[in-house]
Amino acid sequence: MTDVKQTLLLILERHRRDASRLVQILWDIQDSEHWISPEAIAVVAETLQLPPAKVTAVASFYSFFHLQPHGRYRLLFSDNITDRMLGNQALLNRLCSNLWLEAGKVSEDGLVSVGYTSCTGLCDQGPALLVNNLAIPRLSEARIDMISELIRNATPLEHWPEGLFAIEHNIQRRDALLSCDMAPGDGLRAALARCQGDGTLASNTRSWREGLPTDLAGPIAVLDEIKRARLRGRGGAGFTTGLKWEACRNAPLAPGKQRIVVCNADEGEPGTFKDRVLLSAYADMVFEGMTVAAYAVGARQGFLYLRGEYRYLLSALENTLMKRRAAGLLGRNIAGQKGFDFDIDIHLGAGAYVCGEESALIESLEGKRGTPRNRPPFPVTNGYLDQPTIVNNVETFAAAALIALKGGDWYGELGTHASAGTKILSVSGDCERPGLYEYPFGVSVAQVLADCGAQDTQAVQISGASGICVAADEFERCIGFEDLPTAGAFMVFDHSRDMFEVARNFTHFFAHESCGFCTPCRVGTSLLKNLMDKLAQGRGSPYDFAEIEKLNHVLQSNSHCGLGHSACNPVLDTIAKFRGSYEQRLLHADFVPAFDLDKALAGARQITQRDDDAAHLGDES
Ligand SMILES: Cc1cc2nc3c(=O)[nH]c(=O)nc-3n(C[C@H](O)[C@H](O)[C@H](O)COP(=O)(O)O)c2cc1C
Ligand code: SF4
Repeated sequence: MTDVKQTLLLILERHRRDASRLVQILWDIQDSEHWISPEAIAVVAETLQLPPAKVTAVASFYSFFHLQPHGRYRLLFSDNITDRMLGNQALLNRLCSNLWLEAGKVSEDGLVSVGYTSCTGLCDQGPALLVNNLAIPRLSEARIDMISELIRNATPLEHWPEGLFAIEHNIQRRDALLSCDMAPGDGLRAALARCQGDGTLASNTRSWREGLPTDLAGPIAVLDEIKRARLRGRGGAGFTTGLKWEACRNAPLAPGKQRIVVCNADEGEPGTFKDRVLLSAYADMVFEGMTVAAYAVGARQGFLYLRGEYRYLLSALENTLMKRRAAGLLGRNIAGQKGFDFDIDIHLGAGAYVCGEESALIESLEGKRGTPRNRPPFPVTNGYLDQPTIVNNVETFAAAALIALKGGDWYGELGTHASAGTKILSVSGDCERPGLYEYPFGVSVAQVLADCGAQDTQAVQISGASGICVAADEFERCIGFEDLPTAGAFMVFDHSRDMFEVARNFTHFFAHESCGFCTPCRVGTSLLKNLMDKLAQGRGSPYDFAEIEKLNHVLQSNSHCGLGHSACNPVLDTIAKFRGSYEQRLLHADFVPAFDLDKALAGARQITQRDDDAAHLGDES
């Protein structure tokens, strides 16, 4: 047996030859062999009894896996619009010219490769890059020259100056959540004390639960607390957390199955980085929230799905989990409660934005390509390995821990009627003090702009590429589910910025991140990107606006998941609010097409009974 095969078999053994751990197995193989070779695919397929094509299909889905050898140093420049604004392209070119490299290719000596990746969640301290999955923020010409020198000398990464990798939390404003310095276990103990730890109800929760079996009384009291807090998910969609947990708790459990708690730490939305800070500085609180959830829904297994871009947080997170196990806050009989058993595993994503969508995330957790599932059934009844599963955002779990500590009524008093509690915003772009800002819901855009030192602001992109672009006459609008819902991104653009270029960057993002499963999104996002590129080259006409409207209609009505649904949002918003930046690029402002292709094909569509918009793109979804 070759040494390589032996290594591969050891890795597979370590993962108990469990096919549902395929993504983690591929990570370990790549770490060990520097790429995923045909030999590795064959050994994995044979051992896990999967077709080799399936293993290849999974490996090729994730942008951080390499099916070809790549450089010993692999540098990926973050390519969010905020990185662009801070000059990432010039810095990439400088690195390439320092090292005589061509972007997108491995150097001839096999030492280094350089390319772009989607937003790495460091917009408050960009431009940034990842080198072999470690993040380097605040790139400058001096830093690029230093990195070039380190690579030229083949200095091992562990000997690179530590300061290069220093990442700040940048917390600029704390409110109820970020100012809470609860010790590990405080939230859990407070929640358990409300039902007096042994299942006997405290007097204030006694009334309507009188007569419940004791093993149900505690969890239902905790669920009730979350409901009274009126907590809604912080990952974007704003679903009521108490209802989600209750649906999971009430889902029938087949023999041998269990309930699952998943923390969504995929944080791929461009401009969002609050989960990075929560996982760095408040990891205990996040795990505490997951444990509270496990108690409420009756789960024994939890997963933290950590985006590959945050791999540098992995060892600290594992450490926190170990400490919690040692303190009796994970494992068997948690906090002294007989039968309260729960533990958390960390799964590492591998560079796929769509895996933030909860059903795609579950597919990835099961070792598959991150393709969103058909829904219903929903994860609360048929989630991870067909078991009832709750998926919540990092901030939602942190808020759940706070609610466990302080009570649902206290929390429900914060914020507005429709949006209880606080929201953490990831502020970046044209302002003096980028970073994290926590406010009670209801804060106005103008207030946030004043606090972060933004001047001469032209627009704010709220909730990332898939969110809403707010122009200056809307700055009195408020952050909240009733007005401006957000997963957290708050990107500021002053009047020196070209809003067309902002939207164009987002169309490139969507075209790159479309998982390709359904034709309307796979083709539509590319067509949209091409249209924007054509406009950028000055070859557009007003006819293209109508094309964009049509594409939006097709994407909205025929896409399989939220990525496709929202892909046109930034373009439509900026056309509506900053039309001038589009019109100045038009070559033929008065162009009217002489030939209407749609009209010409109308008869054919009628005969083939494909008289719908999806027919234009050959929808297969
Ligand atoms: C394309 C796409 C990407 C998403 N990315 C994330 C993400 O990175 N983090 C997240 O919490 N939710 C993300 N979501 C939303 C999740 O599907 C899900 O609604 C969320 O994790 C539920 O948690 P919450 O109720 O606590 O918000 C994404 C949704 C879509 C359609
Ligand atoms: S809409 Fe796009 S991202 Fe979503 S499933 Fe279809 S191709 Fe994939």
